[in-house]
Amino acid sequence: MCLTIPAKIVYIHAPSPESPFNKITVEDSNGLRELKSLIPEEISLGDWVLYNADAAVQRIDACDAQEIIDLLEHKRDFDLSALDPEFTSIFKNRSQRKLFKSEIMRLLKTNNSHELEALFSEANIIRQTYLKDFFCIHGIVEFSNYCQNSCKYCGLSKDSSNVRRYRIEPDEIYAIVENAVTSRGYKLIVLQSGDDNYYSDDMLVKLIRKIKKRLKVFIFLSVGEREIEGYRNMKEAGANGVLYRFETSNPKLYANIHPEEDLQDRLKNIKAMKEMGYYVASGFLIGLPGQTISDITDDILLTQELGINMISAGPFIPSDNTALSGYPAGDAMMTLKTIAICRLLMPRAKIPVTTAFETIKLEEGRRLALSSGANSLMFNLTPERYRDDYAIYPDRYHGEEKMWERYGLSKETLSYKMLEKKMAEGFE
Ligand code: 5AD
Repeated sequence: MCLTIPAKIVYIHAPSPESPFNKITVEDSNGLRELKSLIPEEISLGDWVLYNADAAVQRIDACDAQEIIDLLEHKRDFDLSALDPEFTSIFKNRSQRKLFKSEIMRLLKTNNSHELEALFSEANIIRQTYLKDFFCIHGIVEFSNYCQNSCKYCGLSKDSSNVRRYRIEPDEIYAIVENAVTSRGYKLIVLQSGDDNYYSDDMLVKLIRKIKKRLKVFIFLSVGEREIEGYRNMKEAGANGVLYRFETSNPKLYANIHPEEDLQDRLKNIKAMKEMGYYVASGFLIGLPGQTISDITDDILLTQELGINMISAGPFIPSDNTALSGYPAGDAMMTLKTIAICRLLMPRAKIPVTTAFETIKLEEGRRLALSSGANSLMFNLTPERYRDDYAIYPDRYHGEEKMWERYGLSKETLSYKMLEKKMAEGFE
């Protein structure tokens, strides 16, 4: 669930009669650290381990350790002195005050390769400074692709007639979640569907209660527009977070793409969800037809103003059989700049690598986003037989997750506790 930075064993202490655990000293980029070892197998000098708090919990293959270090610790140090001082002063300003709209636009507009390197390097350093050992892996179960909305960008809109629709019944959803938690180590699961009234609030409340009673897992909901009372009941049943994007902060653009909805309603709901104590994941689409850099800047500023805990900003991807099918996809570089600026403005926020970004950048996407300020990944737990039918846009990317599952989804309760602590910090 939470991935930590691997460390190398440099000393194994002599067994002590007072302690049932082996003591070891490990080294990572923070220096030396003494740990108790909860690793059941024999350990040797030079082995790589993963640790949580004061305990080594798992051995890790040297090559995999290197891969994780490259991803999480990759240094993009950059000499700022050669750059336009107007540009670099923005980095200093961000630590002293809120950035002005003009400053954010200056960052978003740059196409100068040195400035871009500097921006990504700065975001990466901020992520490492604030969130060094916190790298989160979430699972998502897309349990229904029915939708009663007509969002113009979405392939699952009720107007898309060529979709093979499916619903997964609550017992099967529970079984999927149970397997993900008990056999694969997931500790945070998003339950997502279209806006599908088949699942009444009551049905979801019962499902959440059952999951929370039997499994140690955080539950995030992504179930669209519902009466706010329903969200309150689901919170009381144990739901921890919501994933609810505002999509765009521009009311005109919003009205164009959501003919039956009102941006103000959505913002009101986000505020109410925050007040209820939900961990709120929200964000926007990048590259919507007609969207300007000024709009994206407003989106970033709105995310900051709303105090969003997890910022999800991904490129628009045109979907066949939708009103926007003929438009180009959102720009990958604009997405990376947005991620980096969000990291500058909101150093402690969770920023996932969105599936949409991975879909336009394929294998490269994960590394690019992580080294530009993102710090979490979302893996798809939807059973294969339904996956292709959850076609919000075409050819969704499903990355390899073996390495991450092996080392990131530790079954230790320590990993759950770590997440609990970090989630609480997200409210600060
Ligand atoms: N391209 C990118 N993202 C999309 N979403 C829906 N349709 C598309 C698309 N064509 C996103 C929306 C929604 C989330 C569940 O999926 O932002 O909030």
